[in-house]
Amino acid sequence: MSKNFLEYIQNGRDRFLDELKEVLSIPSVSNSEENKQDVLKCANWLKAHMDSIGIRNTKIFETKGHPIVYGDYMSAGDDKPFILIYGHYDVQPPDPLDLWTSPPFKPVIKDGKIYGRGTADDKGQIFIHLKAIESLLQTEGTLPVNVKIIFEGEEEIGSDNLEEFISSHTDLLKADYVVISDTSMYEKGKPAICYGLRGLCFMQIDVTGPNRDLHSGTYGGGVDNPINALAEIISKLKSPDGKILVDGFYDDVADLTAEERNELNKLPTDEEAFKKDLNINAVKGETGYTLVERLTARPTLDCNGIWGGFEGKGAKTVLPSIAGAKVSMRLVPDQDPDKIAKLFEKFVNKITPDSVKVKVTNLHGGKPSVTPINSPAIKAAMSALRKGFETEPVFIKEGGSIPIVNVFKEKLGADAILMGFGLPDDDIHSPNEKFDLDNFFKGIISVCYYYHELSNLEKFK
Ligand code: BES
Ligand code: MN
Ligand code: MN
Repeated sequence: MSKNFLEYIQNGRDRFLDELKEVLSIPSVSNSEENKQDVLKCANWLKAHMDSIGIRNTKIFETKGHPIVYGDYMSAGDDKPFILIYGHYDVQPPDPLDLWTSPPFKPVIKDGKIYGRGTADDKGQIFIHLKAIESLLQTEGTLPVNVKIIFEGEEEIGSDNLEEFISSHTDLLKADYVVISDTSMYEKGKPAICYGLRGLCFMQIDVTGPNRDLHSGTYGGGVDNPINALAEIISKLKSPDGKILVDGFYDDVADLTAEERNELNKLPTDEEAFKKDLNINAVKGETGYTLVERLTARPTLDCNGIWGGFEGKGAKTVLPSIAGAKVSMRLVPDQDPDKIAKLFEKFVNKITPDSVKVKVTNLHGGKPSVTPINSPAIKAAMSALRKGFETEPVFIKEGGSIPIVNVFKEKLGADAILMGFGLPDDDIHSPNEKFDLDNFFKGIISVCYYYHELSNLEKFK
């Protein structure tokens, strides 16, 4: 019998990893119809696991899409904080499969890291919270704060049904803070609190030329080619110095204050190491901003996919009927994804040559978010990380998006504490995704400390 959570975690290391491997083995890929049963299986696995460690009132909520897993443990008393732990158990598709060195859903441990789809994003990180709760319950018999948990199965496809669920369950979910582990540390050995996430506006452009594919010899020279037209459109979206040219795009962008720029740039960035890791000769981005600002605090526009014409091996002379592209824009305060989508549609229509037709579709989006960093809950989080990692944590912004963070703020009035334990090179969404085991165990320890720190706050809010 362990006397304290540190000892309990130390003794539990192997078992924790065996359990984590079990949940990682379920291919809960949310965007694939074929995996619908696996996503459900994963939700059921989590519910059963939460039951087994003593979390109460566990429940699976069906949605129009994938289910939401809920549970709570609220015996700290009404004078203690209520926190809502949020995470996602769905994962990105594993392809391209041939680039994995071990199968994505057969997790293996190598050099102090666990490899597999969902290890860092986000199953490994939600498991940190479950193991922290277990460790506290087993050694102290109760939790120092009131805890509610929701894990969703649709984060990677835009959290469409969670937003509606939050709106219709505000009493159930009401909390002082939302705690999320779905971001990264600054680097190995440098834990971080993330205080800003970018928003997202994800669009599709479909260009149609002639009503059928044509012989490029017979018709070439007289008929516009939708691929060429699309290339022309894309080339007009951004200037060579990295400014986005969509009319009105920057209207709502809040300028970075001198103070914030100072903070962001205080952290060491090794541009040479960055280039070496990616095997690129030069970085590229908006002029007038540093690499860290471009990566996290300025908006972006990127093509994510493009298609049209003959893509098979060898040559086939064809003047295609259609071409298309997916374009994502990362947004910063105070940009609104719906407004940006409209501006984008208008602009693309304006720059499309008369010789083709264009259709612009808004696929999904999410607002950016910021957490004020002077709150007691943030100070407590810094203190917990300091104890868990035995080093000074830092504040960072992340370039990625978790659109539901803003919904928690709007519907529940709760700020998010983004205490993530990934690393920037965990290769989330890529082949050979991994999660550092040191971070996993120190994460569990930090979360245990965090609940205590929150519980000790003199006056909450
Ligand atoms: N965990 C990530 C978000 C993230 C990535 C935070 C990197 C910090 C650093 C999340 O699962 C994710 O992938 N979000 C998507 C958005 C979603 C709407 C598809 C993203 O950022 O592309
Ligand atoms: Mn994630
Ligand atoms: Mn993700």
